[in-house]
Amino acid sequence: MTDRAASRPGLRWVAALFAVVSIGAAAACSGGEESSGPPVTGAAAEGKQLFNSNGCAACHSVDGSDGVGPTMKGLAGSQVSLEGGGTVTADDAYLRQSILDPSAQRVAGYSAAMPARDLSPEEVDSLVAYIDALR
Ligand code: HEC
Repeated sequence: MTDRAASRPGLRWVAALFAVVSIGAAAACSGGEESSGPPVTGAAAEGKQLFNSNGCAACHSVDGSDGVGPTMKGLAGSQVSLEGGGTVTADDAYLRQSILDPSAQRVAGYSAAMPARDLSPEEVDSLVAYIDALR
């Protein structure tokens, strides 16, 4: 009786501590509720925040799964098929244009759902750095 009563609160305390530690670790890694994918630093980390705060994550995954728009994983440097024919290499210039003027070169098989956003050149650079980090 005494033994059991003593051990139960002990276990609960360990479980609570574990929960706190894992929540803390998850928050530190992701930097926000919506984000996932590999850890990134510098401009790419800023880009990751912008990616989440500007709603990009609602349409684009960073883990390879398909959404309203194509995944950002493995995009940088890849060959993209365009609506209406032709392919383009997803270099920084292409990524920048895709963000600033989404309908200029539409990806084959996707709708023109992506809204143009009012982003500064620095913000676009950070977003491109983030997408580059996901290659
Ligand atoms: C409402 C959904 C939606 C939102 C929000 C959105 N996009 Fe898109 N995006 C799309 C769709 C659909 C496409 C594919 C059609 C096209 O090329 O416009 C696309 C295409 C792209 C491409 C080219 C992808 C490729 O495979 O070549 C990039 C890069 C991109 N988006 C980045 C962003 C960034 C960065 C943001 C946030 C600032 C964003 N998108 C917000 C829907 C969205």
